[in-house]
Amino acid sequence: MQADPTGGTTAAAIRGHVVTLTGDPFLEGSENVLVDEPDGLVLIEDGLITGVGPYPALRDRVPDGVEVAHHPGSLITAGFVDTHVHYVQTEIVAAFGAQLIDWLNTYTFVEEQRFADPAHAAAVATSFFDQLVLNGTTTALTFCATYPASVEAFFAEATRRNMRMIGGKVLMDRNAPDGLLDTAEQGARDSEELLRRWDGTGRNHYAITPRFAPTSTPEQLAAAGELWKSHPDAFVHTHVSENRGEISWVRSLFPERDGYLDVYDHYGLLGRRAVLAHGVHLTGQERRRCHDTGTAIAHCPTSNLFLGSGLFHVRQAKDPHHPVHVGLGTDIGAGTSFSLLNTMGEAYKVAELNSYPLDAVKAFHLATLGGAEALDLAGHIGSVAVGKEADLVVLDPRATALMAERSARAGSVQELMFVLAVLGDDRAVEATYVAGELAHSRDRTREIERTQP
Ligand code: GUN
Ligand code: ZN
Repeated sequence: MQADPTGGTTAAAIRGHVVTLTGDPFLEGSENVLVDEPDGLVLIEDGLITGVGPYPALRDRVPDGVEVAHHPGSLITAGFVDTHVHYVQTEIVAAFGAQLIDWLNTYTFVEEQRFADPAHAAAVATSFFDQLVLNGTTTALTFCATYPASVEAFFAEATRRNMRMIGGKVLMDRNAPDGLLDTAEQGARDSEELLRRWDGTGRNHYAITPRFAPTSTPEQLAAAGELWKSHPDAFVHTHVSENRGEISWVRSLFPERDGYLDVYDHYGLLGRRAVLAHGVHLTGQERRRCHDTGTAIAHCPTSNLFLGSGLFHVRQAKDPHHPVHVGLGTDIGAGTSFSLLNTMGEAYKVAELNSYPLDAVKAFHLATLGGAEALDLAGHIGSVAVGKEADLVVLDPRATALMAERSARAGSVQELMFVLAVLGDDRAVEATYVAGELAHSRDRTREIERTQP
């Protein structure tokens, strides 16, 4: 991106193999929504995409003085969208040997108490955002901790990096250590204050974030629903039906409700911009309710495998008769990778275990346009198209010796995309652009590492 010395617009141009989606492959067929331009050019002004097409046709539109960033042989796609992650769990990834409830008690609730300290929150927020751009992720829906200071640190860093990010203070007023708990009233008050302070500033959005039904009293869930009613453009972010023990616990805590999803339904927490992580064990009726209300599910395969939670049914969730919005989530720190490429590969394997072959176009959809739709942000992000924000990732299909050997035999762009999904990780992220600005360059980073003593 180069600044116009007159103080006018800033412009950039990126050349490579442009790959993007125009619709939902689960509904329209993978072959009908994939668009690729082997020698493509993306033109950017003021952070927005102003042109996409063949390089020979668009080269004359590159403004004088703008140097084209050329990535020969690499794919340029929309930046990845992580629809469920906990920045405050960055430092507990790979904690051994527990399923959900034990894992929460043994590792997570201990770790999250450290975020009462603003300096710790700021330090982890910085490393979290570094990981995002290193992995090509340009938007994430993120849990913070109970403490407002943890939210301040998150949005301060998001604003500094000009990334389209969503986050919120965790609401929890029971069934966790005292130091982590708020109350229904204080939690709602703090959330509203944070929402008023951050939502709509920069590219930030606020998410009302009850952790999950077991850690909120009915009063707190009711207050969260009321808050959403008075701020309907905000998001709701929580967990649902991840683990069988958790589901039984919810039944015993809310015996008057007709299942787990109905708890959230009852308190007005389902609808467009409500995003529920996991949904591994949702019933057909519950999926139907998600469809009817526009509620989205964040599919988190590395987490579901790591905690032994179960196998999410992506085919059932995307049933063309009543499809649910589905995106991919890394769910760091129960998830095991910040990489949406790696997460696509694990989603493929989980789908295989349910006898469903998830092709590369569908996997990329979940990580880009599908994630953007799940977040109701597809008007801004999720594809490489004129008018969208220039959040882009450049993927190198020859990032490792094995990938180079395998990619050389790929007969189609779909095959290259599949190689990236199954074998790729942060090593394959050659560059990440945020609103047209270079936010990460793999080779530059390596050069700096190499020359540092
Ligand atoms: N359910 C409630 N809290 C959490 C969490 O922090 N991680 C996961 N994976 N599930 C949860
Ligand atoms: Zn989670």
